[in-house]
Amino acid sequence: MNISIIGTGYVGLVTGVCLAKKGHNVICVDKIQSIVNSINSGIAPIFEKHLEDLLLEVIGDKLKTTTDIRYAVENTEVSIIAVGTPFSEGKIDLEYVKKVAYDIGMILKEKKDYHVVCVKSTVIPTTTDTVVLNILEVVSGKKLGEFGLVMNPEFLREGNAVEDFMNPDRIIIGTMDDKSFDVFSRIYKEYFDAPIVKTNPRTAEMIKYTSNALLATLISFSNEIAAISEETGDIDALEVLEGVHMDKRLSVNLGGKQMKPDIIKYLKPSRGFGGSCFPKDVKSLINFSERLGYTPRMLKSVIEVNNSQTERLINLLKEKIGEINGKTISILGLSFKSGTDDVRESMAINLIKRLVEEGALIKCYDPIAVENAKRELKNLSNIQYFDIYKGALVNADATVIMTDWDVISNIDYDEFRKLTNDPVIIDGCRIFDKKEAQYNDIKYIGIGYRKK
Ligand SMILES: NC(=O)c1ccc[n+]([C@@H]2O[C@H](COP(=O)([O-])OP(=O)(O)OC[C@H]3O[C@@H](n4cnc5c(N)ncnc54)[C@H](O)[C@@H]3O)[C@@H](O)[C@H]2O)c1
Repeated sequence: MNISIIGTGYVGLVTGVCLAKKGHNVICVDKIQSIVNSINSGIAPIFEKHLEDLLLEVIGDKLKTTTDIRYAVENTEVSIIAVGTPFSEGKIDLEYVKKVAYDIGMILKEKKDYHVVCVKSTVIPTTTDTVVLNILEVVSGKKLGEFGLVMNPEFLREGNAVEDFMNPDRIIIGTMDDKSFDVFSRIYKEYFDAPIVKTNPRTAEMIKYTSNALLATLISFSNEIAAISEETGDIDALEVLEGVHMDKRLSVNLGGKQMKPDIIKYLKPSRGFGGSCFPKDVKSLINFSERLGYTPRMLKSVIEVNNSQTERLINLLKEKIGEINGKTISILGLSFKSGTDDVRESMAINLIKRLVEEGALIKCYDPIAVENAKRELKNLSNIQYFDIYKGALVNADATVIMTDWDVISNIDYDEFRKLTNDPVIIDGCRIFDKKEAQYNDIKYIGIGYRKK
């Protein structure tokens, strides 16, 4: 199929490269010329495992990238909108989605062939069948039916995006008419081995929000249990939750073997959730719900618990080293999770801002996210950046683990003790074995565990 994709960020570029790899002819569009140039020369502007290798296979052949949306829409049957929906003033900003809908509407006005528009950006329920449909109809002068419209949410996880896109667990297509569905589903049918769920656009939008809200809820639930365990003392919430994982309704017994489902990774004490999706999506759902007149008490608590995680880490730090002012704190991990260079809403960034406020000197490390972190923290002084972790450990009074990179979990304890001023580790990701760390003379606190 001939497909255009508007917006080549994490979602748009991964979608474009993967659909091209599956054999479709894809034209990607971005408004930023340097991004287009980079993609056309085979360099992925973002870091995602396998992305650049696949890009090199398809670029110039099955995949082209341009800033010219007219060329892209005119030469394809389907246009997928994958632009950002940033969080602003309590809700998502639809400015980019509306602009693209307007541009496509203008092109559809003159386009003779049937064309399907797909909203892939995460948008609050009712956006596709009201805002986007309205713009397309008014601007093109055509009615739904003369063109198609679907909502197809994206569930890929950053850090695993290519694999997730290539092996989806479900394909949700929200549509108001059969023709849109029939044409659009050809992108997936026979190419992907996953159930295709046909629903209406607002249900598709709600499935995306509900999926992210559930995962964020599991994280905050775990952190609430972690807080209670810490306050009690001598209860390790990690052990508690591992005990919960063993429930056969979570870890199903197959042929005498307990299978650990991926979902239990979210039932673990941690520094909390960040990234471009969970915080934004939960807050947008809260705002949407409140505008409807319903107060989503549970979702509000999910955010409240998450917001308190930074202060809890600081309290654990203070318990070990006293005053923060004048201390050197090493922060290991800057991206919001391992496998990505994305620092949007990263808990490490929040923590650094607070520690600088408290008067600390920060030495921070990340294997790939340093440049993005520098941009995010550009107005702050007292921060030194390292892309080799040993540099960040020199003379540290305490070290806080904020991203679960393998290279961090493999740190040599002897070396750690030699490099640091004080071998204090506050493990915000629970990547170290508590007993082993203590045995190696590390002053260890894992979030969710405190000795009384
Ligand atoms: N990042 C994720 O893991 C993820 C997962 C699922 C869904 N989503 C959702 O998908 C959407 C995109 O997210 P992202 O992280 O890929 O965003 P992003 O900010 O990384 O990328 C968006 C891209 O769109 C481009 N763009 C904006 N306006 C444009 C226009 N008028 N014409 C052409 N290009 C334009 C920007 O230049 C940018 O490159 C968001 O709604 C997000 O919530 C993201």
